[in-house]
Amino acid sequence: MSIVAQTIDLNHVYPGGVNALKNINLTLEKGVRVAIVGQNGSGKTTLSKHFNGLLRPTSGKILINGTDVATKKTGELASLVGYVFQNPNYQLFSNTVKDEIEFGLKNMNLKAEEIRERLIETVDFFDLRKIAKKQPLTFSSGVRKLVALASVYAMRPPILFLDEPTTGQDHPGKEKIGQMILKMSQEGHTIVVITHDMNFVMRFAERVIVMAEGEIVKDASPREIFCDSVTMEKAHLNPPQVFSLARRLNSFGIPLDTSNPNEMAEAIAQRRATSLE
Ligand SMILES: Nc1ncnc2c1ncn2[C@@H]1O[C@H](COP(=O)(O)OP(=O)(O)OP(=O)(O)O)[C@@H](O)[C@H]1O
Ligand SMILES: [Mg+2]
Repeated sequence: MSIVAQTIDLNHVYPGGVNALKNINLTLEKGVRVAIVGQNGSGKTTLSKHFNGLLRPTSGKILINGTDVATKKTGELASLVGYVFQNPNYQLFSNTVKDEIEFGLKNMNLKAEEIRERLIETVDFFDLRKIAKKQPLTFSSGVRKLVALASVYAMRPPILFLDEPTTGQDHPGKEKIGQMILKMSQEGHTIVVITHDMNFVMRFAERVIVMAEGEIVKDASPREIFCDSVTMEKAHLNPPQVFSLARRLNSFGIPLDTSNPNEMAEAIAQRRATSLE
């Protein structure tokens, strides 16, 4: 698979001296669904902000499609790498949801017809029709986040970073964000999600990057990460409950990588059938 983004020996020290990233070497392939996890302050946001030039490296570099981001113009970079902030208020400034979604599309110099089509598809996908003419800042933080996500979704950047998209979301909101991730990755977009929600990671990511104290401590599939108790403890993370249950039942023959209730039920049934033989 082709590499769309890469960091080479990336370090970031904030003014004041916090060494937030330590020698990060990372590649992102086209169309992949990646989750970045790690406890508060481990460097997730700092890392992701380097890909679209919101932060500059203290040393090392970032390549997008093989070119150093330091040599790219801000506008060009913004069209390649989308970013949805942890706090949606930083992103919303239009008078209506419709204007908010159209704003980015107009900046892309698309034809009026194309803007209209994308607007309609986006409003329908996120179920925003009823509130399309309302002012985004009057909504709850969860809905504001969905509007921020919708405006970036409409623009379809090749690479997209979502910083904690599921905070403040109810179940349907989370599902919608998951569907957005699946759809965009099927279309070939690379999606990186920063999240504390391990169930969401299990369902919608195919690769997980675990960060602790500014370093990548593991980079593997969700299944591999969640049954690696050493890494989980090192990063102060709890796996989805089914993995904890599998660990407790491992001595009874339940595999450590049992990753959902169906697999657990099958493993128990199989165990029971074997014990009756
Ligand atoms: N603007 C800043 N100035 C100085 N230090 C900062 C700044 N932003 C973050 N830091 C520090 O850098 C480190 C990494 O922070 P970062 O925000 O990247 O972590 P995070 O993994 O995104 O955490 P969270 O899960 O809380 O969002 C922390 O020690 C944090 O205090
Ligand atoms: Mg953060």
